[in-house]
Amino acid sequence: MALRNIVVEGDEILTKKCREVVKFDDRLAELIDDMIETMRNAEGVGIAAPQVGILRQVCVIEPEPGYVTELINPVIIEQEGEQEGYEGCLSVPGYIGCVKRPMKIKVRAQNRTGGLETFEFEGFDAVAASHEMDHLKGILYTSKATDIHKPAPPEEDGAEEADE
Ligand code: CO
Repeated sequence: MALRNIVVEGDEILTKKCREVVKFDDRLAELIDDMIETMRNAEGVGIAAPQVGILRQVCVIEPEPGYVTELINPVIIEQEGEQEGYEGCLSVPGYIGCVKRPMKIKVRAQNRTGGLETFEFEGFDAVAASHEMDHLKGILYTSKATDIHKPAPPEEDGAEEADE
């Protein structure tokens, strides 16, 4: 496994459509493993192949530590409801913006060995999955977001908020 460089906004690779994965081989497995390592190293909850310079339909999400979902050639087959919230992107470091997303999505995708699977994502998981799937179409959240800004840095010491 190896860390890969994360492409940042401004690079035109992030605006291109990804091609379908047709070979489910060791190279694909290595790409996915590297993407997971790169995502964790950057403290992200998701990453898509174009963010590491590869124009293939591969993305992973880890909305909760340890719960990784790998999506190859993913397609949204159903969606329901709407939610709006702030999100960020490893390719737009230091910023967040407010985006409308579906509340629930059903996704058909392949796994790393080519098997077909169906997933249901809800709430924050649906945000993460649809954000990453947008990358595969060359769409950055900044093209959909309002109120893009740098969040205030966390307090250095003391001043912890009460837990209620
Ligand atoms: Co992103």
